[in-house]
Amino acid sequence: MRNSKISGVGHYVPERIVSNKDLEKLMDTSDEWIRERTGIVERRYFQEGVDTTANMAAQASQKALKMAGLEATDLDMIVFATLSPDYVFPGSGVLLQRELGIKEIPALDVRNQCSGFIYALSVADQFIKTGMYNNVLVVGSEIHSSGLDFTTRGRGVSVIFGDGAGAVVLTPSENNEQGILSTHLHADGEFAEELAVLDPGSNKKDRLTHEMLDSGSIYPHMNGNMVFKHAVTRFPEVIMEALQKNGYKPEDIDMLIPHQANLRITSYIQQKMGLPSEKVMSNIHKYGNTTAASVPIALSEALEEGRIKEGDLVCLAAFGSGFTWASALIRW
Ligand code: UT7
Repeated sequence: MRNSKISGVGHYVPERIVSNKDLEKLMDTSDEWIRERTGIVERRYFQEGVDTTANMAAQASQKALKMAGLEATDLDMIVFATLSPDYVFPGSGVLLQRELGIKEIPALDVRNQCSGFIYALSVADQFIKTGMYNNVLVVGSEIHSSGLDFTTRGRGVSVIFGDGAGAVVLTPSENNEQGILSTHLHADGEFAEELAVLDPGSNKKDRLTHEMLDSGSIYPHMNGNMVFKHAVTRFPEVIMEALQKNGYKPEDIDMLIPHQANLRITSYIQQKMGLPSEKVMSNIHKYGNTTAASVPIALSEALEEGRIKEGDLVCLAAFGSGFTWASALIRW
């Protein structure tokens, strides 16, 4: 079976920068608390009427296509990871297809939150490995800022999330030593409600009620401490799984791109893996946590900064709502 490789990468973030100081005006929080507990300094928020989950994805995708030297019409499939689709249904994949002006190719939405991009990458990889498709667009795009509780009640979650999009183009690899070496996907539904938006849900006769609006159950709820504890266990576990599967050790990693959940989580993983900071990508200070978009945005910036070169061993890893966690090992 043939490998797939990442031939193009791109990202897009909305223009509007929202600092921790801006959030201080809305809720009882402080720049100091947010920096110390999360490492976040600022994040981007979408502009209504300008940015949508699908059109941000399209901008990231155009950049990825350009780098791959392909036209949108060369694509065989779209895999779109998001927890913040433009509509309840249809998914944002078809909207991206429309934005890109390409008809009839399949568009699949993936709902795995922070791990969504790596899940989507794995799906695309399988289609290329089997020979069914050649050029697959994989996207993570999120608009969080229209769905956050900006009162003090929601501060534990709202200060963390930001908006943005990242995309990669996957194509067949010429040799089996290069490209995506393996992907590793996991989930544990026991913790489904520990990081979730519970309403409006289809399991209630009245999907949206005034009580839901008043109680704030329409906003993300997170058991932060519990998520943190699982994250620092699962990240190293799933990174080691990828390394062991391919006969590598942590010191073989040239660049680790972890999902940007919290700088303290990233620092813990870095320490646990024994990696120097130049081998671990971190841009959470600029964008916060953009869930499914965070890994492709970080990958795109690492490339732009010249931190990944041909032949490097690159590891992607994520953990988040579900709980779900995942990794991918790539020979660049
Ligand atoms: O991307 C998906 C995966 N997500 C994650 O991995 C997130 C994992 N969790 C975390 O990153 C951290 O748990 C948080 C950043 C969410 C919270 O940090 P923490 O150090 O676990 O704080 P905490 O929730 O234990 O709260 C400590 C205190 C509390 O006050 P008391 O009870 O000690 O008086 C909170 O009410 O900080 C308070 N607090 C805040 N204060 C100022 C919570 N949020 C804020 C805030 N500003 N925004």
